[in-house]
Amino acid sequence: MCGIVGYTGSQNAAPVLLEGLKKLEYRGYDSAGLAVIQGNTIQISKVTGRIANLCEKTQDGRLTPGTTGIGHTRWATHGAPTDTNAHPHASNDGRFAVVHNGIIENYVELRRELTEKGYHFESETDTEVIVHLVEMYYRGDFKQAVMKASNRLQGSYALGIVCSDEPDRIFVVREASPLILGVGIGENYFASDVTAMVAYTRNAIYLEDGEFAELTPDSIRVFDCTGREISKPVSRITWDIQAAEKGGYDHFMLKEIMEQPRAAKATLAPRIQNGEIVLEGFDPALMKDVHKILITACGSAYYAGCAGKYTIEKLCRIPVQVELASELRYADPLVDQHTLLIVLSQSGETADTIAAMKECRRRGAKVLAIVNVVGSTIAKLADVTLYTWAGPEIAVATTKGYTTQLLVLYLFALSAAKELKTVEDGEYRRLLNALKALPKQIQQVLDMNPGIPKLAKKYHETPSMFFIGRNTDYAVALEGALKMKEISYIHAESYAAGELKHGTIALIHEGQPVIALCCNGAVVEKTMSNIVEVKARGAEVLAVANRENQKIVSLADDMIFIPKVDPLLCAVVEIIPLQLLAYHVAKENGCDIDKPKNLAKSVTVE
Ligand code: AGP
Repeated sequence: MCGIVGYTGSQNAAPVLLEGLKKLEYRGYDSAGLAVIQGNTIQISKVTGRIANLCEKTQDGRLTPGTTGIGHTRWATHGAPTDTNAHPHASNDGRFAVVHNGIIENYVELRRELTEKGYHFESETDTEVIVHLVEMYYRGDFKQAVMKASNRLQGSYALGIVCSDEPDRIFVVREASPLILGVGIGENYFASDVTAMVAYTRNAIYLEDGEFAELTPDSIRVFDCTGREISKPVSRITWDIQAAEKGGYDHFMLKEIMEQPRAAKATLAPRIQNGEIVLEGFDPALMKDVHKILITACGSAYYAGCAGKYTIEKLCRIPVQVELASELRYADPLVDQHTLLIVLSQSGETADTIAAMKECRRRGAKVLAIVNVVGSTIAKLADVTLYTWAGPEIAVATTKGYTTQLLVLYLFALSAAKELKTVEDGEYRRLLNALKALPKQIQQVLDMNPGIPKLAKKYHETPSMFFIGRNTDYAVALEGALKMKEISYIHAESYAAGELKHGTIALIHEGQPVIALCCNGAVVEKTMSNIVEVKARGAEVLAVANRENQKIVSLADDMIFIPKVDPLLCAVVEIIPLQLLAYHVAKENGCDIDKPKNLAKSVTVE
């Protein structure tokens, strides 16, 4: 996720752009840039790091005079955070500049086509193909060039484009990434969200997917995908800036929970092409020399590994060991050149994980990293890095970071199994289709459980909770308990349901809340027996199950239903209601949800 802004009017554009970018830094902050039209040229300034660096470089915009411009603050997805990869990107003839938020899924073939036609690429980004397409289609008509270029793009894009031949016109395009127009008097704006413009205008036009617009100082014209002009209502922005940064949600955590369908699609879609899985930089052929897979991480990332283990072992028939990085680094691990180490980390900067990774590399392991932050330490140290394109995760408690890590593990497992021929073609296609359905199923869960806040009111005062399950359900119980602990401060313990009788059931007293995860059909009957056991000792049971399982309704005190998903892929859907439950319990308890006490977003010390 990145932030884009634009201005055209009578003021100098740069100071307006810089102020807008500061408000969008929460969307991405590893590099930034702006482009301003000066006479018949476009002046571009770009930096790595925060907006403050761009303010310094442009002396708060004084060094880049001009009344029309576009700006960008980046969250890298394709290409590390560098000046060259920062936006805006310029056409070879210098006539155009573009800023982009989203992911161009077909950029590889477009880049190949444009290179063959003689266009030169400066950056590693997917975005750069856009500006060369505009140049290629330009025959003096800016609007036509933008339309033709946009029609070649697949994926998600909110674009701002300027042309030195037309110094006071900006074209913007919206497809699956937010884009809002700000209506001023003698000046007009665009931005990724309202926070960047409320200081100048509260009159907004919200573009829909497939629409594009032309901005001049005195007019805004909106067009549909065929180029036909359409009329759009002007809305009044009532949000305050802080609310707008959270997309109108009370907390970043809730915003990020609700973003998971989009994040899941962003992580999956570019990697499933024509029925095949394409994992950039990962050659499945290396699997033939792999005798063991070792997964290491911390916290929720470790629990993602615990869930991914079931899928990888079932499909690849290779032993998978999941180890806490803080333990592995001192465990004199049995690792050699036949070990594939998979490192999971949202931040890519967790000290224990880095240390464990270095220790395993030293012993000969090949390292595959799955991280969210492009260019992070773990990403740089790994032999191969697969990014989770979840966008910046602000809340300390990870949600979309965890679910997108799971999705990359699923992609890896299926890709490796196909290479190892440990999965039949029919099963491969069935699971691939099931994988593609996950973003929609995550959305269904978000939509189908309006009763979770009420459940939170029922359970929020309990001193402790048990999360129980078996097999893949147990892996989800691990993460569900951590979510509850770290934001509501309620002691929550995850337990393999089959283990209760070996001691823990002694703790079950009258009214003890037990969250029972019952989504894996192969073991659900056994877990239902555990529900009977704990109920017999007075427990209050909240069960998470498939809607088809009506038997469980008679056993549990409360129910949360999720769509039926193959157990090998279910964790990414099953965790959603537990994220929401933890959020609403913490809210009932008045906790500081985005910044829980004693916790940091990235634990960069041992
Ligand atoms: C997640 O909710 C926690 N905040 C924490 O356990 C986190 O998952 C852990 O610190 C690992 O962080 P990383 O994914 O950035 O390496």
